Amino acid sequence: MRRDRNGPQERGRKKGGSLDFVEDLSLHILDIAENAINASASLIEVEIEEREEEDLLVITICDDGTGMEPRALEMALDPFYTTKEGKITGLGLPLLAQAAKEAGGDLVVRSAPDEGTEVKATFLLSHIDLKPLGDIAATLQTLIAGHPEVDIHFRYSGGNGEVVFDTRETGNGEAED
Ligand SMILES: Nc1ncnc2c1ncn2[C@@H]1O[C@H](COP(=O)(O)OP(=O)(O)OP(=O)(O)O)[C@@H](O)[C@H]1O
Ligand SMILES: [Mg+2]
Repeated sequence: MRRDRNGPQERGRKKGGSLDFVEDLSLHILDIAENAINASASLIEVEIEEREEEDLLVITICDDGTGMEPRALEMALDPFYTTKEGKITGLGLPLLAQAAKEAGGDLVVRSAPDEGTEVKATFLLSHIDLKPLGDIAATLQTLIAGHPEVDIHFRYSGGNGEVVFDTRETGNGEAED
C-alpha cells in the first residue's frame, strides 16, 4: 500500500490499528536524536546499516549527553515515563521499540550518567511490516539547521554502498575550531 506523505495531518493516520503514528524510520530517528539534544549532547552519531546477508537493518543513535541513571534507563521504554516538563507521556523510545518489534526486531538502550546513551534498533529487512526509511536527508537537515551547536556524524552502509557525513568535516556554521 502506498503511504500518503502530504503533511503532518497525513502522518497522523493510523496503520492497521497500531497506535504508532510515526510513518517513517527517519522520523523515529529524528525523535531519538531530539532526545539526545534534550540531554545536552554535543555529538550525535546516527548509523544505518543494512546487513543483507543477515536480513537485518540496524539503526544506532549514540550521543554524548547526560545519560541516564539505571532507574531512569529502566523506565525509559515506558510510554508514561518522561522527564519533559508539562508532559505525561514519553513516546519517542516506546514507539521506536514498537516499530522494531513489529518488524521482527528489537530495541536496546544503553546509557550511563555522564557517558551518554546508545539506542540500537534492529529490524528484519524482509519483514512485511518494516517501515520505509523515509527522508533521512530531511531528518539530518532538520537536526543540523535546528541545532548548529550540535555535531552530527551520519553513516549509511548497505546495498546502496556507503555514505558518511560529518558536520565536523563540512562545518555547520558554528564549528568550534
Ligand atoms: N538520549 C537520551 N539521553 C538521556 N535521557 C534520555 C535520552 N533518551 C531518552 N531519555 C529519557 O527517557 C525519557 C523518555 O524518552 P522518550 O523519547 O520516550 O520520551 P520523551 O522524549 O520524554 O517525550 P516525547 O519523545 O514523546 O516527546 C526522556 O524524557 C528522558 O528522560
Ligand atoms: Mg523523545
